[in-house]
Amino acid sequence: MAIKTIIEPFKIKSVEPIRWTTRADREKLLRQAHYNLFQVPARDILIDLLTDSGTGAMSTAQWAAMMEGDESYAGSSSFDRFRRGVQDIFGYRHVIPTHQGRAAERILFGVMCKKGDVVPNNSHFDTTRANIEFVGAEAADLLIPEGYEPANRHPFKGNMDVAALEQLIARVGRERIPLVMLTITNNSGGGQPVSMENAKAVRDVCRRHEIPLYFDACRFAENAYFIKLREKGYERKTPKEIAKEMFALGDGCTMSAKKDGLANIGGFLCTNDDQLAQQEKDLLILTEGYPTYGGLAGRDLEAIAVGLGEALEEDYLRYRITSTAYLGNHIAGQGVPIVQPPGGHAIYLDARAFLPHIAPQQFPGVALAAELYLEGGIRSVEIGTLMFGDAAHMDLVRLAIPRRVYTQSHIDYVIEVMLEVWRQRERIHGLRLTHEAPFLRHFTARLEPL
Ligand code: F0G
Repeated sequence: MAIKTIIEPFKIKSVEPIRWTTRADREKLLRQAHYNLFQVPARDILIDLLTDSGTGAMSTAQWAAMMEGDESYAGSSSFDRFRRGVQDIFGYRHVIPTHQGRAAERILFGVMCKKGDVVPNNSHFDTTRANIEFVGAEAADLLIPEGYEPANRHPFKGNMDVAALEQLIARVGRERIPLVMLTITNNSGGGQPVSMENAKAVRDVCRRHEIPLYFDACRFAENAYFIKLREKGYERKTPKEIAKEMFALGDGCTMSAKKDGLANIGGFLCTNDDQLAQQEKDLLILTEGYPTYGGLAGRDLEAIAVGLGEALEEDYLRYRITSTAYLGNHIAGQGVPIVQPPGGHAIYLDARAFLPHIAPQQFPGVALAAELYLEGGIRSVEIGTLMFGDAAHMDLVRLAIPRRVYTQSHIDYVIEVMLEVWRQRERIHGLRLTHEAPFLRHFTARLEPL
């Protein structure tokens, strides 16, 4: 008989204590933070599900590789290993290291976009949208309609609406669309995957109109594993084979190595276009660093080169996807409304359904995140009206799971806290803004309860 229990595929060599606070402490801390969890010091958080970005635990192999870091300014051997590691999976001709994903975005859009352009995506993440808008271009979300329905169990809710893409190109003209992007997995829409079939259909449209296709590849390994689990014809392929097949459809990518690079910092920009690569490297030198380190230490490049391979290991991905689903299925089983099916890196609570008595203008997602902190010291993040303003289609609260960090008993604790908040949901109030920045306002916004 085959053993069915799925365990964490690692043992723990180094531990980091976490600190308890009382409810009274947390009430005070939250007031001081103006009800914005970004403003709460990490030492006052018990379980930190703010993000899966840069918060993962590195492996012994990664730490060992870091000791090989070549810190030469130019032409370091760490860069050679990094480039080989990236190209082995992504396959693009040029690999440009950056300090994280948004630096790759800024350089890509700075070189490819101008005022009046439109950049379609399944769903732009906040930094992607902000970097496009920063150069005066428009960020268009073209997610399939199912992607906006939290309860809909479509297996590939990250897919792009291909007909909508055709219509957009017909409406604004090919000249105004410098590139099309696909975000794998779709973070803003619930960590949902994009199917190979959809990526191919998007690629076909792009080919026909001679528009380059770029991937926002942050969680490419999780996306590949979902394809293996859910898409016909991929059951026997390895996650690496699937990832390679997907990237071969595109002309380049942006990547935050803080996610499926299993590193604490880093990113890169890839392209097959020699001329663009030259312009991108020129811009890189101006703000990030020389093209063989791009704002990273040689040891960071080493950690990423090893991490990308580990993120594609099947034991790891099985544990990763199963443990995220464990949280989602346990709370959904008790009636808590979540984006279905559970995503790869996070569970997203549907705050509008959780708190139907709070209007979107009163930030139901922020209110719910505040309550999870008060009840159990859990930090989550709103992805909704505070983050996206009127462009928000949903009000979600994301519980992002750091990679290889928390055990099942931590997650059992989160489930217990969540169910307590669910029982008391009618007592939760909305909030109003008292301060906001001109862009990416969610990081620094101040709020007060109504
Ligand atoms: N694209 C996606 C889909 C992302 O999720 C992120 C980051 C980025 C780009 C930017 O990468 O942070 O390295 O500059 N997402 C993090 C998150 C911050 O919490 O989801 P970065």
